[in-house]
Amino acid sequence: MVERPELRARVEHLLRQSPVVSLLGPRQCGKTTLARAVARGRRAELFDLEDPVSRRRLESPMTALETLRGLVVIDEAQLAPELMPVIRVLVDRRPAPARFLLTGSASPDLVRGASESLAGRVAFVPMAGFDLSEVGAASLRRLWLRGGLPRSYLARSEADSFRWREDFVTTFLERDLRRFGVLLSPQALRRLWSMVAHYHGQQWNASEVGRSLGEAHTTVKRHLDVLTGALVVRQLQPWFENLGKRQVKSPKVYIRDSGLLHALLGLGTFSALEGSPRLGASWEGFVVEEVIRAAGERNVYFWATQAGAELDLLVLAGGRRWGIEVKYSDAPAVTKSMRVALADLDLAHLWVVHPGSARYPLDEKIDAVGIRELGATLRAVGIGDHLPGERRRQR
Ligand SMILES: Nc1ncnc2c1ncn2[C@@H]1O[C@H](COP(=O)(O)OP(=O)(O)OP(=O)(O)O)[C@@H](O)[C@H]1O
Ligand SMILES: [Mg+2]
Repeated sequence: MVERPELRARVEHLLRQSPVVSLLGPRQCGKTTLARAVARGRRAELFDLEDPVSRRRLESPMTALETLRGLVVIDEAQLAPELMPVIRVLVDRRPAPARFLLTGSASPDLVRGASESLAGRVAFVPMAGFDLSEVGAASLRRLWLRGGLPRSYLARSEADSFRWREDFVTTFLERDLRRFGVLLSPQALRRLWSMVAHYHGQQWNASEVGRSLGEAHTTVKRHLDVLTGALVVRQLQPWFENLGKRQVKSPKVYIRDSGLLHALLGLGTFSALEGSPRLGASWEGFVVEEVIRAAGERNVYFWATQAGAELDLLVLAGGRRWGIEVKYSDAPAVTKSMRVALADLDLAHLWVVHPGSARYPLDEKIDAVGIRELGATLRAVGIGDHLPGERRRQR
């Protein structure tokens, strides 16, 4: 077992504050395992909507749920949106005898009805595969190559891991998406997913992609939104403000899990990854996900001007702005673009994140920092403090 103490503490903390907590993460990231760990050791009742017995018990939901006390776990709750109004009535009782822990594999935008009726009563906990703080810094390469989905990360060999991820992609397209009510063609979604892997870390040009796939740009957008809603693709939003400069306004796209990226690109070993022209982009995506976990996705943007200045990540926290540049190099240097971003965006500080472990100043407001020290560096300036849950554990 890989322990996930911060994640668990966050869920437990939120359960004390909110009558409904919803764990939201892609297929196979460990939601059920975590929900069961939270339920263990307290009065709890578990339902799994993928299990026919649970489904039958919930056929008359009010009867099944109203007498329960303590914690009620409903796994894959979004498969039964009709439960939500019932849960709402139950948590509005005073005093409320039960709290609810739900899990789901797609964002509420994708699955209609899954959460509107719980508005104001539900706290979401975003989840993904393992991160570096969970597996330990010594396992950086393995985590980056295989990604964080537990079965891939823990597979006995690189070949097993790679095969598992290829199967994941197929099952996901042919079965999982259907269950969220997505009826688009698996072949078209696979082509698009592969296209995103090639665009990974670049701005998304729906018309260009549409042309190369022979599809309307509106279709391309809908498909991209499905993959985003199913939590496997990230659209990183651009930051823009009135600077008297033309700034980029379309999102950058990433495959969220680095292991799935490598599967889609056919990169099965670390040496294949190192020899690939996608190496730098893969590293960038890996760091982006680590930063977003620390800072919360609503606080993270990229920035770029038409004139060519760019900043990989702009992080908003505590009323200040922080910059992050991602470089796959042991000896990153200051660039003109970094100075432009510092001045134009009035950054408090800028870090250049590299795969090594050294930390050293590059300039008055710019430090090079190794990925292993990134978490501590962000915590030291208060990034992540506003996220719900116990203060992130020091490591
Ligand atoms: N912390 C962990 N340490 C080791 N293995 C884990 C951990 N969490 C999950 N796993 C393993 O990963 C696999 C998927 O976990 P789990 O079923 O909890 O994920 P899930 O998100 O509920 O998946 P699904 O979306 O398919 O329901 C299981 O084989 C599980 O044993
Ligand atoms: Mg599950």
